[in-house]
Amino acid sequence: MEKTLSIIKPDAVARNITGKVNDRLETVGLKIVAQKKLLLTKAQVEKFYEIHKDKAFYDSICEYMSSGPVVVQVLAGPDAVEVNRKAMGATNPANAEVGSIRRDFGESIERNVVHGSDSNENAVKEIAFFFSGIEIIE
Ligand code: CMP
Repeated sequence: MEKTLSIIKPDAVARNITGKVNDRLETVGLKIVAQKKLLLTKAQVEKFYEIHKDKAFYDSICEYMSSGPVVVQVLAGPDAVEVNRKAMGATNPANAEVGSIRRDFGESIERNVVHGSDSNENAVKEIAFFFSGIEIIE
């Protein structure tokens, strides 16, 4: 079973649609094997999104991701990284496939409902950032 990291972002938590988002993920066969709600500090988000530190949107995304609670979770299933990416849709909701989470619920490229690991290698790192082994129940 492959694993991937999923974050339900502050806009979706504030709009009370975490259940709707997770219904989409569970419907495509992903299993939530770890989950917690966190209010991240800006410094924590800066570390998590370090890969984007030279991008123009870095400060804004770090500010936004620490502006309210998020739900961080580990999803498991065959091809979990790709299955989750397809369910989320493109980063910009305007370009995301109809029926995808970001297309149906996203407000903007920043307030795009969910984050998901973009590769297996990053999934391993991102899962370890938030969870220890004993918190993941397969
Ligand atoms: P995410 O998958 O969480 O990874 C980084 C986030 O930065 C991305 O989703 C978007 O929400 C946000 N972001 C803001 N502006 C941009 C942009 N121009 N290109 C890519 N990501 C952006």
